[in-house]
Amino acid sequence: MKDKRLSVSAIKNGTVIDHIPAEVLFKVVSILKLDSIDNMITIGNSLESEKLGKKGIIKLSEVFFHDNEINKIAMVAPCAKLNIIRNYEVADKKVVQIPDEIVGIVKCVNPKCITNNEKVTTRFKVVSKAEVKLKCHYCEKITDRDNIQIT
Ligand code: CTP
Ligand code: ZN
Repeated sequence: MKDKRLSVSAIKNGTVIDHIPAEVLFKVVSILKLDSIDNMITIGNSLESEKLGKKGIIKLSEVFFHDNEINKIAMVAPCAKLNIIRNYEVADKKVVQIPDEIVGIVKCVNPKCITNNEKVTTRFKVVSKAEVKLKCHYCEKITDRDNIQIT
C-alpha cells in the first residue's frame, strides 16, 4: 500500500522542486545559491521514488523564481518538476528547460582558460541540450554534464 504521509512537510506558499536525482541535489542547491537566502527551506534527499529510485526535493517558502533563474538547474536535473504553491494548493506545475546560454555558475574544464586565471565571468553556449554540452565562449572547450563544476 502506498504510504501517503509526506516525508517533508507541505508548505503554504512558494516553490517545490521535485524529482531531483539524489546525486545532483546539492548541485541544484549551489546553482540556485540557496545558501544565501533567508527564507524557510526544507530539503529531503534519498527519498523513495517510483520513477527515479532515490530522489531529492527542495521546498522554498515564499520564493518564486523567474524562468531564466530556475531553468539553469536543467543542466544537472533536466527531469526536475516545479510546483508553484499558493495557499497550500498546487497552483501551477512547470518543467525546466536548458537555456541557450549559461553565464557564470559553471566552471570551464580547461585549466588554461582565461576564466580560470583572471577575474572573468564564465560564459558558455549550450551546443547540445540533450547531452548537456557547454562550449566556452573564450577557449571553445566543451564542458559536459559529467564534469560540470559549480563555481
Ligand atoms: N506540496 C507541498 N506543499 C503543498 C502542496 C504540495 O510541499 N502545500 C508538494 C508535494 O509534497 C509534492 C509536490 O508539491 O512533492 C507536488 O504536489 P502534488 O502535485 O500534489 O503531488 P504529485 O501528484 O505526487 O505530483 P507529481 O506526481 O506531479 O510530482
Ligand atoms: Zn574556457
